[in-house]
Amino acid sequence: MDITDRDVLGVLQAVLHPEKKKSIVDLGLVKDLVIQPNRITFTLYFKVFNDPFKKSLKQRAIAALQQEYGKDLEVDVNIMADVVPRVKKEDAPVLPNVKNIIAVASGKGGVGKSTVAVNLAVTFAQKGYNVGLIDADIFGPSVPMMMNSKDAKPYGEKRNGKDMIVPVTNYGVKMLSIGFFVEAESAVIWRGPMASNAFKQMMTDAIWDDIDYLFVDLPPGTSDIHITLTQSVPVTGAVVVSTPQNVALADAIKGIKMFQGEKTTVPILGLIENMAWFTPAELPENKYYIFGKEGCKKLAEEMKVPFLGQIPIIQSICENADEGKPSVLFNNMVMDAFIKIADELVENINKIE
Ligand SMILES: Nc1ncnc2c1ncn2[C@@H]1O[C@H](COP(=O)(O)OP(=O)(O)OP(=O)(O)O)[C@@H](O)[C@H]1O
Ligand SMILES: [Mg+2]
Repeated sequence: MDITDRDVLGVLQAVLHPEKKKSIVDLGLVKDLVIQPNRITFTLYFKVFNDPFKKSLKQRAIAALQQEYGKDLEVDVNIMADVVPRVKKEDAPVLPNVKNIIAVASGKGGVGKSTVAVNLAVTFAQKGYNVGLIDADIFGPSVPMMMNSKDAKPYGEKRNGKDMIVPVTNYGVKMLSIGFFVEAESAVIWRGPMASNAFKQMMTDAIWDDIDYLFVDLPPGTSDIHITLTQSVPVTGAVVVSTPQNVALADAIKGIKMFQGEKTTVPILGLIENMAWFTPAELPENKYYIFGKEGCKKLAEEMKVPFLGQIPIIQSICENADEGKPSVLFNNMVMDAFIKIADELVENINKIE
């Protein structure tokens, strides 16, 4: 039997919003319905960004469809909510059309900031948001390669008499990186102020129109670039990436404290534990905690900052990155991990006072 849109909406009629006492269909929350053999996909679009029933309604919608069509039916429900601008217009005359600016930082180098920034940006774009990504690692830009845009050249456009840079777009993400403008070797010899200026220009002299979430992939540690970021634009919050290893955690604490300093107070939106464990393909039930177990989770509890989730070590994350393929688009396990983190992140952004 072929399932039609009408059939699916009929089943979802039974899922009532507990507060509004109407079905999710009548409330107009069900969007982008796609029916494939044995798979139904749709978005639950909440107009109220902090609707407390988001997760429970998703679960009940899945349960209702599986009850009707069988447990084997795969149901993918994407949760989206109206984006609340956290960047106030009066604070950000330079970025008037950006609703949220999210810094991706770490204390230690090589823990996976760029991997997280790129895959988070693509996950948000997949969810339907308008997404920007700035590679702030002036001395070691990774975004062009990870986003398969190594040879891209942003062009210029005049806006109100001023020359502006138009970001490059790939995988639905608008992005800028110093790697688009200079050869990798030439930026390395720049002095600090030159690097800071180049970064500032990517924020203030580029066309960032209608951006729901602008991610900034920061260099490791605590640098001039961090100061330039927090002083030039009102950052909504920071995501801190670490591995569960003790030396990385010690640096993660420094990373968190940098944002909680006296001069710069940027809310910590959460910690992400990358390289949380390794599972060999031939032993899918086994988890090896190579860098220690749940170190970031414990650190988040100790420092009273939110914990966003874990990403295991997956060989294809590394291989895909080198080939310019964001892993979320090619590996279901990675996609699941990032969707969970993205949903949690949106919740935490919406909770900021
Ligand atoms: N979960 C993972 N599984 C497998 N490989 C990973 C994972 N996360 C990151 N990597 C790999 O580890 C290396 C470092 O990651 P990445 O460049 O994202 O770190 P970084 O923190 O941005 O580094 P830097 O401090 O130099 O900017 C890359 O080769 C990346 O592909
Ligand atoms: Mg990096």
